[in-house]
Amino acid sequence: MLHSTLNTNAQIPRVGLGTLDSRGDDGYNAILDAFDAGYRSFDLAYAYLNEEPMGRAFKHIIESGKAKREDLFITSKLWCNDHRPELVLPAYQRTLKNLQLDYLDLYLVHWPFAMPPDSLPISKDKDGFTPVERIPLSATWKAMEELYEKGLVKAIGVSNVTVALLYELYCGCKIIPAVNQVEMHPFCQQPKLISFCERIGVHLTAYCPLGRAAKSGDVNASNHPVLVEIGKKHKKSAAQVALRWQMQRSQNISIIPKSVRKERMIENISIFDFELTPSEMEEIAKLDENRHVIDVEALFDIPLFN
Ligand SMILES: NC(=O)c1ccc[n+]([C@@H]2O[C@H](COP(=O)([O-])OP(=O)(O)OC[C@H]3O[C@@H](n4cnc5c(N)ncnc54)[C@H](OP(=O)(O)O)[C@@H]3O)[C@@H](O)[C@H]2O)c1
Repeated sequence: MLHSTLNTNAQIPRVGLGTLDSRGDDGYNAILDAFDAGYRSFDLAYAYLNEEPMGRAFKHIIESGKAKREDLFITSKLWCNDHRPELVLPAYQRTLKNLQLDYLDLYLVHWPFAMPPDSLPISKDKDGFTPVERIPLSATWKAMEELYEKGLVKAIGVSNVTVALLYELYCGCKIIPAVNQVEMHPFCQQPKLISFCERIGVHLTAYCPLGRAAKSGDVNASNHPVLVEIGKKHKKSAAQVALRWQMQRSQNISIIPKSVRKERMIENISIFDFELTPSEMEEIAKLDENRHVIDVEALFDIPLFN
């Protein structure tokens, strides 16, 4: 498995398993299948409401002697209702307890805005809006820095953070985020964010690297005709072309495709035995529509990316 180096000097595998919607036994089996398929990095979040089966799966892998804890790279995320600085440590400890782990390799602030403590995963106020709290990301970040400085977590980062907000955080923080996890796929390429993150030493993890595939209608990296055609030349699927493209764009990018099917997990990680040509890379670059499949405005009533 290939790795990128974080600004902490830790190594992050370039391909990890996404786990949004991987619940119950499907989630448990997904972790075990992915481990067998060669995955060592797993992307979780408190808000995915699946920490219990994920924790059982990690416990099984470690106790059965298949891997040591340090062989795994486990990421989770602080939900928006725990942004009050005094809630960050308890939220982290709750996640560790649920996952039956002593530490995380990476803990991210899931979204750069705060909701009141009782709104999990998302609630609406009497006017139908998602309630927000006046807590700046910098205040939550200070509490994240304390986790890192106390040695409770190996690395800290953010998610869904745009260039302007990242610059603000970068200027005022003590510890520069190790990672910014954002939506990136051929239809949402974010080239300016990539070059800015490279300049300031922040690694990027691409979420929805398949554009959510079948779940997102016409934004589907697993059957787009341009990707299918390129794939035919390499005897690879359109999904593999979309994932390989991310690997060649920058050494500073990792991806976390989600699947609960072992054959797809194997497909999604089998992307290191072919290379896209410069003209194929250019063809894929032309697919960019700056189109997000995670509709933040519909979810949270906050036009974060406008
Ligand atoms: N930080 C954030 O705010 C944020 C937001 C969204 C997602 N994420 C993370 O990023 C991960 C990935 O994003 P995502 O799950 O939304 O979307 P994705 O990985 O782009 O796509 C997942 C979908 O594609 C299907 N799929 C997987 N491999 C395939 C293949 N080779 N061919 C065809 N279809 C395939 C999966 O179905 P099957 O499972 O049935 O195979 C699933 O429906 C999430 O799971 C989560 O961990 C983070």
